[in-house]
Amino acid sequence: MSQFLDAMAFRHACKVFDTEKQIPAEEFDSLLEVARTSPSSFGMEPWRLIVVRNEKLRKALKPSCWNQSQITDCSELIVFTTDNNVVRSGTPYVRKMFERRGLSAEMVDTYMGVYKNYLADIENDELLLENWTAKQCYIAAANMMTYAATLKIDSCPIEGFDKEEVEAILDLPEGRYVALLCAFGYRVNPQSEQKRLPITQIVEYR
Ligand SMILES: Cc1cc2nc3c(=O)[nH]c(=O)nc-3n(C[C@H](O)[C@H](O)[C@H](O)COP(=O)(O)O)c2cc1C
Repeated sequence: MSQFLDAMAFRHACKVFDTEKQIPAEEFDSLLEVARTSPSSFGMEPWRLIVVRNEKLRKALKPSCWNQSQITDCSELIVFTTDNNVVRSGTPYVRKMFERRGLSAEMVDTYMGVYKNYLADIENDELLLENWTAKQCYIAAANMMTYAATLKIDSCPIEGFDKEEVEAILDLPEGRYVALLCAFGYRVNPQSEQKRLPITQIVEYR
């Protein structure tokens, strides 16, 4: 528990990354593994991660990301995207995701029905569906950032970007959307003091 809390204390939104320090490949692979093993609604794993290493591409993205230096200066930049096409009810992808649980054909059909009902008010609206999948990207991103902190790797979640511009630069096909970006690397400056509300203001017991 204390190790986890240490990681929570170490993690902060890193503003200035050391351009000289690279995350070792093995450690970065383990970060990706944390994303892969994160929980998702109905186990649909709707996240699709783009690791942007190309310098030109990073430079192209920066102006569309409020000119934040983390975009070009971090060791690894991840764009969390989602794909509305695959998660719609009734797709072969959704069926496969249920089938892999080793269920009977009848149970798979039952799950397909429950899923369809669940998404009934969501999937007819492209934006609602996008938001549903994006929410899950945040879970994977949060897990990655906390895990990174256990390895003394810094991070910064980035929502400060022009979505349409970033999607156009990445040339995402129809139905693919950017949820958020996340920069990983090593801090240059000491961490600022963590400011948080007191527990009494954010938690109530009923
Ligand atoms: C979803 C999300 C989006 C964020 N977007 C940005 C961003 O674009 N740029 C940035 O510098 N920080 C960004 N932050 C960092 C927050 O400003 C920061 O987490 C918050 O102020 C608390 O500070 P701390 O994380 O350093 O403790 C974002 C945080 C979250 C959770």
